[in-house]
Amino acid sequence: MPFPIQRPRRLRSSESMRRLVRETRLDPANFVLPLFIAPGEGIRHPISSMPPQCQLSIDVAVEECREIHALGIGGIILFGLPESKDEIASGAYDDQGIVQRAIRAIKREVPELLVMTDVCNCEYTSHGHCGYIVDGDVDNDTTLDWLAKSAVSHARAGADVVAPSDMMDGRVAAIRSALDAGGFMKTPILSYAAKFASVFYGPFREAADSTPQFGDRRSYQMDAANAREAMKEIALDLEEGADMIMVKPAMPYLDVIRQARDRFTDIPISAYQVSGEYSMIMAAAANGWIDHDRAMMESLTSIKRAGADFIMTYFAKPAARMLA
Ligand code: PBG
Repeated sequence: MPFPIQRPRRLRSSESMRRLVRETRLDPANFVLPLFIAPGEGIRHPISSMPPQCQLSIDVAVEECREIHALGIGGIILFGLPESKDEIASGAYDDQGIVQRAIRAIKREVPELLVMTDVCNCEYTSHGHCGYIVDGDVDNDTTLDWLAKSAVSHARAGADVVAPSDMMDGRVAAIRSALDAGGFMKTPILSYAAKFASVFYGPFREAADSTPQFGDRRSYQMDAANAREAMKEIALDLEEGADMIMVKPAMPYLDVIRQARDRFTDIPISAYQVSGEYSMIMAAAANGWIDHDRAMMESLTSIKRAGADFIMTYFAKPAARMLA
């Protein structure tokens, strides 16, 4: 029964009608806001490529977390800027490290807010790579040890979820067994399972001061062209004990999110709307080339429609306010 019997426009005639048949809804509970924690006190240092995001000292981050919680946002994910870096990323697994101290302060002051941590070494190494360098490349199996120690120290400080983002082989199994051995069998792992070597991380590397000093991350992060390989990475991480998985970046990889959703039907899937995705919208909006609020909501809706249950996004606060 095609036209004139079928007229799909009937269901688009008013906002009340559109609202009734809307298939995808955003909820602040499904947003996770990344925070960058810097040393010092009273620090709110603007990240110029990601306005109005800032690097925050722990005391300021705690205040920020009260607001984040009040907005009903699902949680935060912490990244750290250590006071000093070295070849062996010691700041990453130090119980007095910047992220470990931030976790303790936030869980003490805003205990109900879900605190996730990014488990990676690139913010803590002097060379900016995600692990131990041997012959100019990241050595997988030595790096696993650092990651496992970091995850345990985050859990010990009170992290609710640990999220490895380094793309080493076997890291989920290594982290799971270290957590269990340390008595943290209840701490879930959110694996950045399908993380692509992406140009869209550019602004983040300013934010987290983690630009590799030589080479790039293509020997560990995935090739942008590969979706089948992404399914393999996810399957392996689930076998190793991941409780949730992530696809990253989000908007350039909506097909990967959708394939993951269709194939792995019974696990939570998240997606990371990364710094470059955010900065492009902010820059276009600042020029008056695109409407900020609509671009924000449409981009988030597309990620959820593709199949993500929750979204890491720098838009968490303004989007939550719009949904209130
Ligand atoms: C750490 C890490 C990165 C991002 C999240 N965790 C950077 C990278 O892999 O180079 C990127 C997040 C963003 O761009 O917003 N390895």
